[in-house]
Amino acid sequence: MGAKTYFVINYGCQMNESDTEHYAGQLEELGYRPAGDFHDADLIIVNTCCVRESAEKKIAGKIGELKALKTKNPELIICVAGCMAQKDGAKLIKKHPQVDIVLGTAYVNDFKDILLDFLVQRRRKGRVYDDLTIHQSEFEGKMVRQSNFEAWIPIMYGCNNYCTYCIVPYVRGRERSRSVENIVAEIEQAVQEGYKEFTLLGQNVNSYGKEFGIENAFAKLIRRVNDIPGVERVRYMTSHPKDMSEELIKAVAECEHVCENFHVPFQSGSDTILKQMNRGYNLERYHHLIDTIRKYVPHAAITTDIIVGFPGETEEDFQATLKLVQEVEFDAAFTFIYSKRSGTPAAKMENQVPLAVKHERLNELMEVQNLNSLKCNEKLVGQVVEVLAEGPSKNPEVWSGRSRTNKLVLWPLEGKTYQLGEKVYVKVDTAQTWLVKGKAVDHE
Ligand code: SAH
Ligand code: SF4
Ligand code: F3S
Repeated sequence: MGAKTYFVINYGCQMNESDTEHYAGQLEELGYRPAGDFHDADLIIVNTCCVRESAEKKIAGKIGELKALKTKNPELIICVAGCMAQKDGAKLIKKHPQVDIVLGTAYVNDFKDILLDFLVQRRRKGRVYDDLTIHQSEFEGKMVRQSNFEAWIPIMYGCNNYCTYCIVPYVRGRERSRSVENIVAEIEQAVQEGYKEFTLLGQNVNSYGKEFGIENAFAKLIRRVNDIPGVERVRYMTSHPKDMSEELIKAVAECEHVCENFHVPFQSGSDTILKQMNRGYNLERYHHLIDTIRKYVPHAAITTDIIVGFPGETEEDFQATLKLVQEVEFDAAFTFIYSKRSGTPAAKMENQVPLAVKHERLNELMEVQNLNSLKCNEKLVGQVVEVLAEGPSKNPEVWSGRSRTNKLVLWPLEGKTYQLGEKVYVKVDTAQTWLVKGKAVDHE
């Protein structure tokens, strides 16, 4: 008999992608091998997200689908992990009796022990691990990273912000930071393995290290990571406008390897709505932040997240959001329709916005933003951008990669070959809304 196989079905944000790499690592340490398709796997992890209802519905459908697989193969082990597992706990097993293990978000690095325990006991009753207050273990094994040259590095877990619409603090727990030593050791190890680009992850990276009592700990961490030999690019997400400091912006400006890319979610352009959202900043502060970024890092790309249809959002409030989008000219924006999350304060607010209005607003917003994205990309025409090669695009003769400002860049091979992660300089000649195209050139 061959080795047992696993498959992780991943949903949600980069934090989940990183957790998935931790699961894969632990499974491979136990001798499991990746399955090409979840239908063939001996063990399936569904790593879930519950940030919006749409995500949850899709995932519930997927978990439902696994029931037939379990009927066919009663030995199949099904684990539901991540934010929905944390939120629903034992209810998940009641609803989906085919699930063997419900793994909350604080147990990611204990998965190996939990699975071993399950295998030994083989108790045919679902198990639930959903205590959010346990001390999260440091990961000590080998990660199985998805990319050969880009690495996710979690630097902190949880969120203390309690934006009134958001479920994340309830499913990821209180903020806790990893030590600088552990973070640096993980990056040094990954450099040894050939990794070049590092994205530091946290729900609110600007409050990294608050519990250590060090001022500007995140800016200091960025500088420290920048100085690790072999690190070519540093990215981080997500920044909260309330906590983003001038010190951080200066660090980005001064650190050679830190990419000129700021993701600064503003959510709404109306002070009334921002207050209702408990975001902790106003429009004036946000504009000041953007001006500071432009002052220190003039060619930076700035991206954002926006919610339309938050309870009580009037046409006037929405127009304020549109105005901000037009004024800042974001390189890209992730736009969302407000989704009611039970247990959050906003779910109980009056004046919920009708769905049709939300859709209208979203469409209008996307139209404006798409023009901005195109305009930002057009500014790159004629310029040479630094790209790390990610591999072939849909057309195998055309390769793609990301610029320092995180733009998708396409260029034809023209008989050349590239290594994954190789630095390529591309002179941009065509701009589209979602990408730019050009030709590889020698770097002067
Ligand atoms: N910690 C990050 C992002 C977390 S979730 C931050 O604060 O920026 C990613 C995005 O999902 C948020 O920025 C927000 O725009 C969106 N979001 C969160 N809860 C939502 C909800 N209930 N409905 C719609 N969008 C939501
Ligand atoms: Fe959610 Fe706000 Fe925390 Fe981001 S900062 S994860 S939006 S509560
Ligand atoms: Fe979703 Fe959890 Fe991330 S709710 S967005 S997977 S932190």
